[in-house]
This record gives sequence, structure tokens and C-alpha cells, in this order.
Amino acid sequence: MKMIAKLVFLLVCCAPTWALCPTKCTCYLDHKGRNAVACKEGGVVGPLNLNNVSLDTEVIKITAPDDNMNALTMSPVFQSYKQLEEIHITKSNIPQLGMHFFYGLNKLDVLNLSQNNITQPLDHNFRGLSHLKELYLDDNRIISLPSGTFRFLLGLKLLSIQRNRIEELTPRIFLEISKLRILKLSGNNLRELHPEVFKDIQELTYLECRSCALTRLNDEVYHLLPDLIHLDLGNNEIKNISQKELKDLQSIRHLKLDGNLIYTLDDNAFAAQGALKKLNLAKNKIYKISQMAFSENHNLTELDVSYNRIDDLEFLKPLYDSLEKLILNGNHLKIEALNDLILLNVLKELRIADCGLAQLDNEIIPKTVQILDLSENYLSNLNKNIFPDNLTLLDISGNRFSGLEEDLLLVLDHVPNLKLNHNLWSCDLCHIVPLLERINKSVAFREVICAAPYSVKGKTLERLQRSELTWCNSPSYTASDANFFSIGEDGKVGIIAASTSIFLLFLTAVAIIGALCYANRHAAKYYTHEDKITTIEGESIFGNNQSPLFSDGELNFKFPLDCEEKKISIATIDEIKKEHSIINGST
Ligand SMILES: *[C@@H]1O[C@H](CO)[C@@H](O)[C@H](O)[C@H]1NC(C)=O
Ligand SMILES: *[C@@H]1O[C@H](CO)[C@@H](O)[C@H](O)[C@H]1NC(C)=O
Ligand SMILES: *[C@@H]1O[C@H](CO)[C@@H](O)[C@H](O)[C@H]1NC(C)=O
Ligand SMILES: *[C@@H]1O[C@H](CO)[C@@H](O)[C@H](O)[C@H]1NC(C)=O
Ligand SMILES: *[C@@H]1O[C@H](CO)[C@@H](O)[C@H](O)[C@H]1NC(C)=O
Repeated sequence: MKMIAKLVFLLVCCAPTWALCPTKCTCYLDHKGRNAVACKEGGVVGPLNLNNVSLDTEVIKITAPDDNMNALTMSPVFQSYKQLEEIHITKSNIPQLGMHFFYGLNKLDVLNLSQNNITQPLDHNFRGLSHLKELYLDDNRIISLPSGTFRFLLGLKLLSIQRNRIEELTPRIFLEISKLRILKLSGNNLRELHPEVFKDIQELTYLECRSCALTRLNDEVYHLLPDLIHLDLGNNEIKNISQKELKDLQSIRHLKLDGNLIYTLDDNAFAAQGALKKLNLAKNKIYKISQMAFSENHNLTELDVSYNRIDDLEFLKPLYDSLEKLILNGNHLKIEALNDLILLNVLKELRIADCGLAQLDNEIIPKTVQILDLSENYLSNLNKNIFPDNLTLLDISGNRFSGLEEDLLLVLDHVPNLKLNHNLWSCDLCHIVPLLERINKSVAFREVICAAPYSVKGKTLERLQRSELTWCNSPSYTASDANFFSIGEDGKVGIIAASTSIFLLFLTAVAIIGALCYANRHAAKYYTHEDKITTIEGESIFGNNQSPLFSDGELNFKFPLDCEEKKISIATIDEIKKEHSIINGST
């Protein structure tokens, strides 16, 4: 490895021309039309070397694959590259930056030294970079930063020092970089943000300190940052948020407090945040949001309260005319609470995934909704009337659907993006035909995977042969029985099968009625209440298929209870009714 590296890096070339390019690197014009050199193969060991890199290069990128990192040391090679605008040296295990190495790079905008092994940058490392706008030192091993480390970077706008080992921000750390707008400190174990350090960067608009082990919001900090628009303090240990602590965050438009330990939100919690547009409170422990918590937030358009313990939605009231995106995933909502959703007049995106929903009958989805996520619930049925006209995405993956009926699919045919995977799709004539007919319409149907019957389990609809379709999903059923029906070769397989068999079905139904009346009162009761039958899986009303009807040699298929209902449904194809009424266990 070292040999190759030396060969590549120590061979010096003769005359720099426009065609010059180091072997193992690529030279190109980037999206802004600048001369760029990228060396990404990795495995380079020794001092950084720019042999064969043309002097008019404007962008240099040296990086490596994860399993073949470079081990470079910095050497003063940049001085003659006066045109450089961006330098990225990443995944190269650089331990230190030399004194004045970047001196004279008056055009340098971006310096990216992420994913190295730098422990302590010093002010003289950055001397001469007065034009620099963005400095990235993410994923190094920086333990501390002395006061004034960045004092030569007078034009710095963005500083990112994420995922290092800084435990304290030294006072005056941000000396002389008063133009800083964006500061990213995530992934350092800071525990506290001291107001003192923010005195030098009062124009900050964007502050990110996720996973910083912070235990509170500190109003003294925000007092110094009147222009803060975006604050991200996710994945910390903040327990309380109060109106007082937030009072100075008046310009804030995007606030992220997800992954903290917040339990309640009081009246007017965000009273000073009139400009707030997006609020993320996901993954906290919120069980109560006061009805007036958002009473002053007339501009709030996006609210994420997923994965909390919220059960009612009365707190949405002040947001009826502003909220466009609402994420409620992973809460244990009361079924009545959902009725409030219809009052959200401008809602475009609604996510109620993983909420334990077993039923969704009422028209609770506002007509303005375009994106609807119902995934990871216990739904087995949907009322076709609940869907808004302009739906562009519907996600019902991870539910309990065994099939979708034609009249529902006629509605869903207008939805360009459907997500149907991970359901209990039952690939038999009773359940899957309307889906199967649509496999040429969208990949969503092609990729539906059969969960039953056993003979086709795991197959996608795309690969399912028509001859494999059995009449009903019954464990004791065999494929040869399906040959009884003459299945058409064109796409309309189900309808044809159904219509050609209607007469037979009618006869069968009559025969069944007769047989049932004749047999016992118990079974007759099931039949006459067919709409309300509660399915008991595998149980057969014919007592293990010993009915007089099926002992007849001609009709040798077996109907479990579930199938009996479905057969009737198909015979009266437009009036398919809900058959299951699974009680929502979690509410
Ligand atoms: C520099 O370019 C010359 C001529 O194209 C080539 O022979 C040599 O291997 C290159 N050296 C490096 C380090 O890429
Ligand atoms: C800096 O380098 C890292 C590692 O290669 C990369 O992921 C990141 O996108 C770069 N940042 C910029 C602004 O180019
Ligand atoms: C990073 O630097 C430390 C010393 O500061 C050294 O022990 C370690 O081996 C270096 N890591 C790599 C991957 O070079
Ligand atoms: C709310 O948004 C409107 C339009 O974007 C803006 O004019 C208004 O100033 C905002 N309200 C507050 C309190 O910032
Ligand atoms: C889907 O398209 C293929 C190839 O064009 C065709 O053979 C098949 O019958 C079609 N299936 C349906 C259900 O329309």
C-alpha cells in the first residue's frame, strides 16, 4: 500500500498544462464550471502532495472509502494555488494543521476538514483565510478550542464542529467572527450553553446543538440572539419548556425539540413565537398539551408531535386555519379525538401511522389533504368516502388488509403514489383480483407480496400465475380445485370467473340456504346475519366440511366461514360491506 502511495504521490511531473491530472484522481469542471480535482481512491500515506495538480485548480477534494482511509500529514503545499475556492480533505486521518498552511488563499470560501484526527486547531492554522465563509471540522477528535481560535476568519458565516469531544466552550471562543450566521455544535457533550460565548456572535440565525446533553433552555442565551430563526436542540435532556425561557426567541421560525424529556405544554407555551412556522416535538414524553398552548401561533404550518403519549387533539383548535402538515404517528389517540381533524381547514399532509387504529369510517380526513399516512395500524378495511379528491400519496403499508375491493380501488386509481406493502394480502380469488387487474398500472400493485395462502406466500403479484389463484384462502385448500372455474386468460380474470360462475354461485347460495335451514338453527343464524358476522378464523360453519352439499362429488371445494361471506359479496359485487369489526384494542 505504501509503495503504491509513494508511486502515485512522489512522481513529479514536468510542465503544468490544462490536461494535467494526477493518476488515480479525476479532473473535471464542477457544477459551477470550476476546475476541480477529486482523489477518492484512498490508501495514501505520507505528506500531502499536489504533484500534477494544475495551478489553476479551484476545487480540491481528497477523500477515501471507509475501508481504505488515507493517513496524511499536512505540508505547506497550497501556497501557489491562488485560485482555490474550496478545499476538502476528509477521511485522511490528518492529526494537526500546520502553521500558516492556508496563508495567501484569498479566494478560499470553503474548507472541509471533516472526518480526520484533529485534536486541537489553533488560530494560526487559519491565518490568511479572511475570505473563508464555511469551515467544517466535523467528526474529528477536538477536545478543546482555545479563545479566539477562529479570529482570523473575519468573513466566516458557517462553522460546523459536530461530533467532536468538546465538553466546554471556552469564553471568547468566537472572538472576531461576528458575521457568523450558522453554528453547528451537535454531538458534543456540552451539557450547558453559556451565554457568555454567544456575545461575540449575535447575528446568528441558525443554531444546532443536537445530542449535546443539554438539560434546559437558557433564556439568557436567546436574549443575545435576537435574529435566531432556526434552533435545533433535538436529542437532549430538556424536561421543561416555559413561556419565560422562550420569551426572547421572537424571530424563531423553525424550532426542533424532538427527542427530549418534555412532559407537558402549558397555556401560551409559545406565546412569544408568533413567527413560528415549523415545530418538532416528536419523541418526547408529552401526555398533555394545554388547549391554549398554541393560541398565539397563527403562522404555525407544520407540527410534529409523533411518538408522545397524546390521546386528545383539542390543542389543535388555534391551528385550524394555519396547519398544513400534522404528524401524529405513534400516539395512542382516542378514536373520538380523530373527529377533530376534519376541522383543519388547510391541512395538506396528515400522518397517523402507528396509532393503533383498527377502524376509520367517519369522514375525518379534511378535503385539502394530499398526503395521507395510515401505515402500521390495524386496518383491514377502508371506507371509500373518506378519501379527499386531491390525494397524491396514500400509505396503508403495515396494516391488516387481505384485499381491496373494486369500488375502493376505483377511488384510489386517482392516487399517483400508493404504498401497500406489508399487509396480509390473501392471494386468492376472494381478495386479490381487483389488485391483480391493476398490476400493469403501477409498480405499487406489482410489488404487493402475498401473505397467504401458503402455496404462494412471498410471491409478488407480478410473478403470480393466474392458475395459482385459489378460490379462497383456506389452509386445506389445494390448487387443483381452482380448475373447476374456467379462468380467463386476459386481465379480467376475477370478473370473468365471477360472472361466469354467477349462475353457479346463485345455485350454490340457494343450496346453502336450503342446506342450512335444513341442518341446524345455529348455522342459519350466522347466515341471516351475514353482514355482521364476526369472523373466527378457520372455523367452518359446516363443521369440518361434512355438510350434505359438499359431500357431493362434483362440488369438491371447501368453504371456511370467511369464504362463505366473500362468496356472497362477489355475487352482489357492488354492495360489499365491511365484514370485520375489530375492536380497537389500544383505546
Ligand atoms: C504525473 O503525470 C505524468 C504524465 O502524465 C505521469 O507519468 C505521472 O505518473 C503523474 N504523476 C502523478 C503523481 O500522478
Ligand atoms: C465535507 O466532507 C464530508 C466528508 O467527506 C462530507 O460528507 C460533507 O458533505 C462535506 N461538506 C461539504 C459542505 O461539502
Ligand atoms: C489519532 O490520533 C491519536 C493521537 O492523537 C492516535 O493515537 C490515533 O492512532 C490516531 N488515529 C488514527 C486512526 O490515526
Ligand atoms: C406570519 O406570516 C405572515 C406572512 O408570511 C407575516 O407577514 C407575519 O409577519 C407573520 N407573523 C408574525 C407574528 O411573524
Ligand atoms: C400486463 O401486461 C402484460 C404484458 O403487456 C400482459 O401480458 C398482461 O396480460 C397484463 N396484465 C393485466 C392484468 O392487464
